[in-house]
Amino acid sequence: MADRLNSRRILSARMSRRRWLSATGALAITAVALQACGGQSAPAATQAPAAPTSAPSAPTTAPAPTSAPTAAPTTAAAPTTAAAPTTAAAVTAAPTTAPTPAASTSSLTVDQNVKGKLEIFSWWTNGGEVEALNASYSVYKKYFPNVQIVNAAIGGGTGAGGNAKAVLKTRMLAHDPPESFQVHLGHELIDTWATTGYMEPLDDLFKSEGWTEVFPKQLLDIASANGHLWSVPWNIHRANILWYNVKIFKDVGVEPPKTFDDFFAVCEKIKAKGITPLALGEAAPFHTAHVFETVLLGTLGAEGWIGLFTGKTSWADPKVTQALNTLKKYFDYVNSDYLSVQAGDTATLVVKGTAAMVINGDWNNGQFKSENFMANTGFGWAPTPGTAGIYDALADSFGLPKGVKNRDAAVDWLRVGGSKEGQDAFNPLKGSIPARTDADKSKYDAYQQWGMEEWTKDTIVPSFVHGFAAKESWTTDYVNTMNAFAAKKDVAATQKQLTQNCQDAGVCK
Ligand code: GAL
Repeated sequence: MADRLNSRRILSARMSRRRWLSATGALAITAVALQACGGQSAPAATQAPAAPTSAPSAPTTAPAPTSAPTAAPTTAAAPTTAAAPTTAAAVTAAPTTAPTPAASTSSLTVDQNVKGKLEIFSWWTNGGEVEALNASYSVYKKYFPNVQIVNAAIGGGTGAGGNAKAVLKTRMLAHDPPESFQVHLGHELIDTWATTGYMEPLDDLFKSEGWTEVFPKQLLDIASANGHLWSVPWNIHRANILWYNVKIFKDVGVEPPKTFDDFFAVCEKIKAKGITPLALGEAAPFHTAHVFETVLLGTLGAEGWIGLFTGKTSWADPKVTQALNTLKKYFDYVNSDYLSVQAGDTATLVVKGTAAMVINGDWNNGQFKSENFMANTGFGWAPTPGTAGIYDALADSFGLPKGVKNRDAAVDWLRVGGSKEGQDAFNPLKGSIPARTDADKSKYDAYQQWGMEEWTKDTIVPSFVHGFAAKESWTTDYVNTMNAFAAKKDVAATQKQLTQNCQDAGVCK
């Protein structure tokens, strides 16, 4: 894997292949994610943004949670799904004697002097997410045994992490931040928290941990704004994957489809056997928006997709109409109760064989694994129709809010997550590929081996739903627009609203 993320090599290979990259002198993922928010891809300023002098205006981006937690959690917030631990049960008890860590290339050593509480905010409450988060906690406890981890994971809400983000926003605005919180690299980090002055810059930590050498340049650029680094990437996820039940595909005698025509032909054959072809969960606004992201990408291609966030591709384009019509047809093959099914439960429908396929990100890989449904035997995967060779990317990260109660413990949390040991404990369970270039490949499953390989060859584009491509308010508008589509299937009204959303975001005229 040493060379898998050799950004210079990828850059030169891509620049010779793709004209749209050569204009920027930076990788697409950087150029697009940051250009769309005002061209921050070449950070120059050396000054940290000033701390907010007064509480900034009320959040404009976080949607009101559909089932709002009423109070900001001071200890573990009650997760909305039963699977989530309220505290990191397996790891909160301090061991009586500190274990000797295995040899590691990181700077981590056991430190009994770091004490107190460490509150970690995330929306990881599903199978795979919980196990992966607990793996990060376990590595933390190994080195910092006297810290009490408070798991403040909250599921549900609008979009990816809606309820968690809403509670977090309340806490941040009240200057009562948790020690650290899950945040997507890209606009979600930069626009919402970094350039608004709520985070500490992490340049020194990146230097002392040697991270500027081991994280790919694309990710470092995306974690940067105003000349500073603002968060530590935990992973790289891929959004555009079609997951399928291997046994159903064998029984029906179908192969993973490559085009939309193939895809609907496969759906027809499965439906003819009395099996629901596609699992969809739109009980809260999210999954339809995620699926449509992949349909748009498969219809417009990488360049057309990227243009949606820079104003080059019109949301009124006939190809967007075509994509909406494709999505309308998609609904002919989904479970009829999709408006009352949670997105997080759709993977289980494929495990049970209630549905044959589902489109979702590779957190499904983690969820399948947590249900003992394994790559190649239980599930198969393929790029969503029309997207072979395109990696629709997002990355989870953690940063350091200003004014945390236990800064030492928080910095150590970041050191754990950015370490090789931390990444190789977390990612095999999360389903994602590691953000570090030097991870131990042997710890990863067949899907992840494939993903790591794809990352080196594919054209990388930023995910919209998962915070990479556009500011949070636009993402939320998009997710809500697609939720309305799921109920009404009105192509013209939806396209009009999508165009309006782009204008409201200040990107389209
Ligand atoms: C994404 C997040 C992933 C995964 C997924 C589903 O936005 O980056 O880590 O958890 O949501 O919850």
